[in-house]
Amino acid sequence: MRRELYRMDRQGAVAVLERAPVVHVASTTPDGAPVLRTVHSVVVDGAVAFHGAPAGEKTETIGREAVISAEEIIAEIPSYFVDPERACPATTYYVSAQVHGRLEEVEDPAAKARVLRGLMEQFQPEGGHVPIDEAHPLYKNAVRGIMVVRMPLTHLDGKAKLGQNRKPEELTKILELLWKRGRPGDPRAIDLVRQVNPAVSTPDFLQAPQGAQLLCALGHERTEEALALLDGTYWNESISRDMVARALLSASAWVGAQDSSGDLVAMARAVSDSKTAWIYDVVVRPDWRQKGLGKAIMRLLLDHPMVRDARKVRLATRDAQGLYERFGFRDIGDVPAAVPNTEMVLVRDGSDRVE
Ligand SMILES: CC(C)(COP(=O)(O)OP(=O)(O)OC[C@H]1O[C@@H](n2cnc3c(N)ncnc32)[C@H](O)[C@@H]1OP(=O)(O)O)[C@@H](O)C(=O)NCCC(=O)NCCS
Repeated sequence: MRRELYRMDRQGAVAVLERAPVVHVASTTPDGAPVLRTVHSVVVDGAVAFHGAPAGEKTETIGREAVISAEEIIAEIPSYFVDPERACPATTYYVSAQVHGRLEEVEDPAAKARVLRGLMEQFQPEGGHVPIDEAHPLYKNAVRGIMVVRMPLTHLDGKAKLGQNRKPEELTKILELLWKRGRPGDPRAIDLVRQVNPAVSTPDFLQAPQGAQLLCALGHERTEEALALLDGTYWNESISRDMVARALLSASAWVGAQDSSGDLVAMARAVSDSKTAWIYDVVVRPDWRQKGLGKAIMRLLLDHPMVRDARKVRLATRDAQGLYERFGFRDIGDVPAAVPNTEMVLVRDGSDRVE
């Protein structure tokens, strides 16, 4: 029963394996000794696969029963989030994936090369090498010589322990307390808890216009949608797509909103050291404008743990002054400086960059 409560769908479990920087492989040697290894892995051809030298402990486990596992800690939940006295509710929210089966050696050079290419794409996405091809003179011998091991994802279990055992009103309180605590992973934890507990009522800080759901932590998987929202915005006109993507992923706070089908319809982000924050890329999809969503994501961003304590929050706008003034923003020329100073800026077009 408890197992069912926390079961994650297959797609979610595969995603945990794909995101994992390393996985753990537990097996036994032919004489029954336990073996536990940590390896870089990749999901290719319906299997989780890794590589190694064709000698040593890893080779001894080929053909044997094994378990491969990966996990992510989402948030530590202290007992006092639930009960002011008892220590018992203290817990950890996490997602994990386990694959059970037999380790198989991959013999086909083309299949081996697919695994090695997958590993390179995952760990060296910037390229900088000749693509791995089993027939290429640079790689022919190396591909033949290296050992590649796989385990099909036939028996894959995913688990997401994200508060499913709590009553909806307890969970609403947990969401509020996570937001208030504001550790680096807490905004993402809030989004995940809401995703797996759709019955939980929306806490005040996440109130949004009808049909929209606010998101506290956009991540890598939303980059393409965010780039589409930002397409054609005047402030990104001369900036390459790659640089905009890099800027999104470097944000200290990146919030958004999705519609009922899960499509991203608004976003805003901030770069902040907690003392000073800069807001960028505030955008609402045209069909969602003038429904209060711009205000809702600005409210959320200004209250974000990385932004809420900032003494100065800055932004630049061509024509949306009215939106920001309602939150207290003023033209910088109207604000007396604490210390007389000159605001300075270094403008670079990128052509003088030393590589
Ligand atoms: C600006 C933008 C984010 C506003 O989003 P929205 O969901 O339409 O905004 P809301 O419905 O929450 O309301 C915005 C409020 O700000 C006001 N406002 C002032 N200047 C505005 C502007 N240039 N654009 C939109 N609203 C503006 C609106 O009149 C409205 O006031 P109201 O509540 O009294 O009616 C959206 O129009 C947008 O994405 N525009 C294109 C991108 C952009 O210019 N972003 C801002 C860059 S600084």
